[in-house]
Amino acid sequence: MAGPVPALDDRAAACADHLRAADSVLLASHIDADGLTSAAIAATALERAGIPFEVVFKKQLDPTEIASIAAREYDTVLFTDFGSGQLDAISEHEAAGDFIPVIADHHQPADADTAFHLNPLLEGIDGASELSGAGASYVLARALEPADADNRDLAALAIVGAVGDMQAVEGELVGTNEKIVEEGVAAGVVTEGTDLSLYGKQTRPLPKLLEYASEIGIPGISNDEAGSIKFLDGLGLDLKDNGEWRRWVDLTDDERQTVASSLVQRAVKRGVPADKIDGLVGTTYTLTAEPEGTELRDASEFSTLLNATARYERADVGLAVCLGDREAGLERARRLLQNHRRNLSEGLEWVKEQGVTREDNLQWFDAGDAVRETIVGIVAGMAVGVDGVDPDVPIIAFARKNDEETKVSARGTGRLVGKGLDLSVVMGEASAAVDGGGGGHNVAAGATIPAGREQEFIEHADGIVGEQLG
Ligand code: C5P
Ligand code: C5P
Ligand code: C5P
Ligand code: ZN
Repeated sequence: MAGPVPALDDRAAACADHLRAADSVLLASHIDADGLTSAAIAATALERAGIPFEVVFKKQLDPTEIASIAAREYDTVLFTDFGSGQLDAISEHEAAGDFIPVIADHHQPADADTAFHLNPLLEGIDGASELSGAGASYVLARALEPADADNRDLAALAIVGAVGDMQAVEGELVGTNEKIVEEGVAAGVVTEGTDLSLYGKQTRPLPKLLEYASEIGIPGISNDEAGSIKFLDGLGLDLKDNGEWRRWVDLTDDERQTVASSLVQRAVKRGVPADKIDGLVGTTYTLTAEPEGTELRDASEFSTLLNATARYERADVGLAVCLGDREAGLERARRLLQNHRRNLSEGLEWVKEQGVTREDNLQWFDAGDAVRETIVGIVAGMAVGVDGVDPDVPIIAFARKNDEETKVSARGTGRLVGKGLDLSVVMGEASAAVDGGGGGHNVAAGATIPAGREQEFIEHADGIVGEQLG
């Protein structure tokens, strides 16, 4: 069968054959939106193929965690959204006869290989912008599909994973990701459209939608509640329903057109740069099987909802939502989302107040306990673009993990990657130099290092970035 990514067909078929022959499978995945959707896709595909399995989530796949997986009774372990970067440690367990690994991942592979390894980077496909962990899991799911099933409905979750990993390029999924979108559209679970690109079109009342869109930076609207209300009141539309502000989804096409074009006009008049104005409109992915006006209907809102669960040790809640729990699961996830939002906004405020330290080739901050280590990478990414943070220089963030260890997150931009930046190499080499470990993608990567060696780490990282961009 030809899958959505022909270059990966052989690898997917080999992985699927091995899984079908297994008595039972331990499915291990990563604790973010992409990891959760990866797990949900793989779990559904295993279920439909009649293969018994159990799911576990890990914050990070280090040698200790791999050893704990090896200690389980499972002969086959399916790793999704991680595994490639830890293949050196994994293949030692394989050689020792602990388990046979099957990997569906998109991170930079370590120097080792294994028989059942599905990763876009092995076939020259970019793992940061063309296929996510959920996309790799989707390719596997298509290969696992029994004759009487159609797994293309899982494309919806694959899109949520890709959007959650910020794979969109200039607002749009490209390459193999776009092939998955096409399958989702054909299966009737997704529509793709051009729309306002602001976050919260499904769930935020209009003034909040505009006020919170700080990344666009329209004076008198962004971060300005009264200004947003005044702007909306001045449009001559009836934007309230029984006294309550309507949401973007509640508007007619004409009303949307009026709001969007007035917003663009206002931005032009107030001197917002052209590239930011272009960014006001983008491609949106709507999950048509989900209820309108819920986080689940929009790929971007869905992915944030998932991050709000798994990054707070409640991956079970996120997985339940992905697998269809639209009642209790969704309610719990929403409570977690409120907490996540508050943490992101407090984290961003912290960075704004404390500022970053500038080195020759990068900038960094140490949040200590002020930002949870599982979200410090998201905060670092959101910090790019705020006052005092240079958008043309990579950013590195530290957060305390425990008494012995510090979490490191690094973020770059597509432009810097074009000039030679590879943060997965920076994190891998600089962490190894201080007895830590790390990896990831060219544009976003992370590491864990011994506490107290942050300064030394920065010196190494600064030197490596200098060589890459020099
Ligand atoms: O998908 P990811 O979590 O990486 O996206 C970055 C975060 O930015 C999201 O978690 C989302 O909550 C947050 N965000 C927001 N409001 C915006 C833009 C982004 O809350 N206007
Ligand atoms: O482990 P994983 O692959 O899921 O992590 C991807 C991370 O990289 C996400 O937190 C995402 O926000 C970040 N990223 C980014 N910019 C990109 C691509 C990914 O910040 N262009
Ligand atoms: O945690 P954070 O969002 O910063 O992670 C960015 C990327 O770096 C992710 O793809 C993650 O899987 C990877 N990473 C890694 N090793 C670590 C920490 C993060 O490969 N120790
Ligand atoms: Zn991922």
